[in-house]
Amino acid sequence: MKINHLGIATKGIDEALKFWSDALGLENVHTEIVEDQKVKVAMLPIGESRVELLEPTSPDSPISKFLEKRGGGIHHIAVEVDDIEASLANLRSQGMRLIDESPRIGAEGCLVAFVHPAASGGVLLELVQTIK
Ligand code: CO
Repeated sequence: MKINHLGIATKGIDEALKFWSDALGLENVHTEIVEDQKVKVAMLPIGESRVELLEPTSPDSPISKFLEKRGGGIHHIAVEVDDIEASLANLRSQGMRLIDESPRIGAEGCLVAFVHPAASGGVLLELVQTIK
């Protein structure tokens, strides 16, 4: 496994890029709207991982709710797995609480599924299976 990306909630990607890209020096290589999750994302590679900036596209986006409650900041950690169905089954068999019982289509066409923060002691975890 590896860290596929760190998801960071922002009120606006353009504003956030003033820090992450202009000031810090990371490059925004991919911007996309993920309709299913009501977010716009920007991907900035860092080592073998990426920073994923998230901006809500709707007031009922999960990111809107997070921003209201917590302000901006780290929203989730995404772990890359080889077989997301097997990972979900493994967690489920151990009684771990899942948000997504089956994978959904995420950014860049990847399969993604979220694990409830209650399972991990407070960290929202995203499983990602990349399309090979
Ligand atoms: Co993510």
